[in-house]
Amino acid sequence: MILQVEEVYNLALRMLSEERFKHTLGVANWAEELARHHGLDPVKARCAGLAHDLGKGIIIEDQLSLARRWNLLNYPEDELYPYVLHGRLAAYWLEHYYRVDDVEILAAVANHTLGRPGMSPLEMLIYCADLTEPSRDFPKVDKLRQSLYDDLEKGMFACVEGILIYLKESNHPIHPLTQLTYEDMQRRQTIGT
Ligand SMILES: [Fe+2]
Ligand SMILES: [Fe+2]
Repeated sequence: MILQVEEVYNLALRMLSEERFKHTLGVANWAEELARHHGLDPVKARCAGLAHDLGKGIIIEDQLSLARRWNLLNYPEDELYPYVLHGRLAAYWLEHYYRVDDVEILAAVANHTLGRPGMSPLEMLIYCADLTEPSRDFPKVDKLRQSLYDDLEKGMFACVEGILIYLKESNHPIHPLTQLTYEDMQRRQTIGT
C-alpha cells in the first residue's frame, strides 16, 4: 500500500504527544523543503518525516518486548538502550500491520535514530531533519542546516560527526551502528559514493 500524507498525518496526531507531534511536523516540513531543494521526492520525504517517530507512541517496556517478538534486536546495545528501537518498530508495524510497501520510506523510518552504512538520500534526509528541525536549538545547529542545504551528503557527515562528538563529550554510550555510519560517511567523503 502506498502511504498517503493525510493518513500518516492522522496516525501521528493520534499516536503522539502534543510535543512529539510538533517535533514530527517540524521534521516533515524541513525534510520536504530539503527534498525539493535536492531534487528528491517531497511527498516521500513528508510521509517519512510524519512517520519517523510513530514508535515513540509505545511505552519503552513494550518497545523492548515488541522488538523481541518481531526479531528486531540486532546488537546487545539494542537491549541496553531500548530508546534506539522506535524507528525499527515503526517501520515493522507500518510494513506488517499497515501494508506499507515503499521500501525507501520504511528504511528512512527504521534508520533515523542510528543510521547505517550505505544510507540512501531519503534515509540521510530524515536522519538529519530529525536532528535539525526548526525547534531544535543547540550550538552550531544553524551551521548544520546550511550544510545540509548546500550538500546533503556533506551535511549528513557533519550531523553524524556532531552526534559522535556530543556522545563522547557527555559520556553517553555510543551504539556500534552510529560508529559504523560515521565511518561509512567518512569513507564516502574521501572516495565518493
Ligand atoms: Fe526518533
Ligand atoms: Fe524525531
